[in-house]
Amino acid sequence: MRCRGNASSLPRLSLLLSLFGAVSPLQLAFANWVTEPRGPAATGIAQLSWVLFIVALIVVVIVLALYLFALTSEGAPRGTTPSWSTPFVVIGGIVVPTFILISVLTYSLGKTSALQEVGEGEPITIEVVGNQWWWEVRYPEEGVVTANELRIPVGVPVRLELTSDDVIHSFWVPTLNGKMDLVPGRTNTLIIEAEEVGLYRGSCAEYCGTQHAKMNLLVLAEPRETFEGWLADQRRSAALPDTPLEREGLEVFLSSACVYCHTIEGTNATGDLGPDLTHLASRLTLGAGTIANNRGNLAGWIVNSQALKPGNRMPPMYLEADDLQALLAYLGSLE
Ligand code: CUA
Repeated sequence: MRCRGNASSLPRLSLLLSLFGAVSPLQLAFANWVTEPRGPAATGIAQLSWVLFIVALIVVVIVLALYLFALTSEGAPRGTTPSWSTPFVVIGGIVVPTFILISVLTYSLGKTSALQEVGEGEPITIEVVGNQWWWEVRYPEEGVVTANELRIPVGVPVRLELTSDDVIHSFWVPTLNGKMDLVPGRTNTLIIEAEEVGLYRGSCAEYCGTQHAKMNLLVLAEPRETFEGWLADQRRSAALPDTPLEREGLEVFLSSACVYCHTIEGTNATGDLGPDLTHLASRLTLGAGTIANNRGNLAGWIVNSQALKPGNRMPPMYLEADDLQALLAYLGSLE
């Protein structure tokens, strides 16, 4: 799961690799890993990881070398003790390990305490609520609610306020910072900051039930103006249906079970069990990173999301073909 590059080169690469059946395009396109930090906190974690790894490697090599030496050397004559044995045990067994462990501990504590430091600039706040098995994402100052995607401005610290609606989840975007749990009834904070424009993949890092593995999220770090433009679009109520087919689709939506679970701002749909769909068409994935958001996948998801993500809370929807087409047209217009 390591793949870097800008967003435009990713689809081609992922397509190429998916031809070999290794991974689905979606999984690969957004792959990122701890060793490829794109933010100050993640850089600290990567440095710490490498230092710990290299120190451990050096110790292992030295110990193995001594072991090989002991196996192959003739040693002291039976019944005698070499004069260097006591100092060797004291230095090699006590002094050196104590020095290494204290140094590593001090270094680790310094690095981990820096993880929650807010960088320069006024941080923006985003609330993330864990649900089985998706993420609600709110921009409280803007009144914007979305799901499974965090858009953030590049180079600006972001304060995440994390909580959960059901069980414990854990927010983890390895390229931006370490993990932080989402615990029902309390709010944990985590600072992330992206230093480069890009698409960063995250996932739930605490087992939370059947579909824990399909509880993924994306962080899109964009230039400030792009981010502000997106935010302005998201603040608006849902687009009004333009065509007769879209109008029919809205009717289908409002007269079916959809409204009990989903909200579309500006309509009578105000359910809050599932993701807010006001700007559904502007999102990249469906089902928290399960499938790409396109018309065919959306149709499959609506008709029977249980086949794609068994156990999720959305029941299969039995719709006439015409109604489904109208619904798809309407949902596809919700930019
Ligand atoms: Cu949510 Cu694992």
